[in-house]
Amino acid sequence: MSNPFSLQGRVALITGSSRGLGAGMALGLAQAGAHVVLNGRNRELLQARQKEITDAGGQASIAAFDVCQRTDADAAIDAITDTHGHLDILINNAVSSASGDFLDTSDEDWRRTLDSALDACFRLSRKAAAGMVARGWGRIVMISSVNARISRGTNTAYITAKAGLEGLTRGMAVELAAKGVTVNAIAPGYMATDINTTFRADPARYEWIRNRTPMKRWGTPQDLAGAAVFLASDASAFITGQTLVADGGMTIAI
Ligand SMILES: NC(=O)c1ccc[n+]([C@@H]2O[C@H](COP(=O)([O-])OP(=O)(O)OC[C@H]3O[C@@H](n4cnc5c(N)ncnc54)[C@H](OP(=O)(O)O)[C@@H]3O)[C@@H](O)[C@H]2O)c1
Repeated sequence: MSNPFSLQGRVALITGSSRGLGAGMALGLAQAGAHVVLNGRNRELLQARQKEITDAGGQASIAAFDVCQRTDADAAIDAITDTHGHLDILINNAVSSASGDFLDTSDEDWRRTLDSALDACFRLSRKAAAGMVARGWGRIVMISSVNARISRGTNTAYITAKAGLEGLTRGMAVELAAKGVTVNAIAPGYMATDINTTFRADPARYEWIRNRTPMKRWGTPQDLAGAAVFLASDASAFITGQTLVADGGMTIAI
């Protein structure tokens, strides 16, 4: 009996998978049978993640590049396709964002955030989707945020990028739906990773988020693995253009 959640024989690129949520999703996809291509800018970290996966019996390789560098990103996708013959799954997860009060946001901070969190996702998706359409099967997953819809202030550029990413998801989904390629998003709530180390270090803020979450805890990188495997697999074949919220209930609670 075939398992619709199996990713056996699939090749997946997960951007920003040297640590944090990307690393958790990469491990989940590898456990489901995919060959995962790990990405980030720090080769040593990537090698450590690769070793964890291969030591556990999974398949992983490394594509170290900055998602904001178009030529490097295009070359990486070409190299994956040359090596494996196909790239079936793209998870757009990497972000390097700036935060700060709206009135103090510089043009440079705004551009840097939009560049990694939105523009790079557009370019990588366009490049990867061309091959997926040619082969008649593909899965693209955007990592959005509950901040696409709700704001706690001090991150307007990030909110704008994530709201745009969900628009990109729907736009691409409609165009690619009849071509075997689905495009969906995952919107995590508050997850304990490097991105919010400073925020979490303040006990009052840490408790505020924990109490604001009906499950009474912060999320972990492992918490996204199931959603990512589902949206990357045949099990989600009739689902496209959607955002799956993984937030411990935060955004459905008063
Ligand atoms: N943590 C949360 O609470 C939360 C909540 C909602 C949504 N999210 C979203 O989830 C995603 C992952 O966040 P995270 O918390 O795991 O962040 P993180 O811990 O800061 O990890 C970010 C990852 O992206 C890589 N990266 C950053 N900029 C890159 C670039 N320009 N090119 C290639 N790789 C780059 C980093 O590696 P290097 O720095 O070594 O390159 C790292 O592997 C992001 O899209 C974020 O917006 C997170």
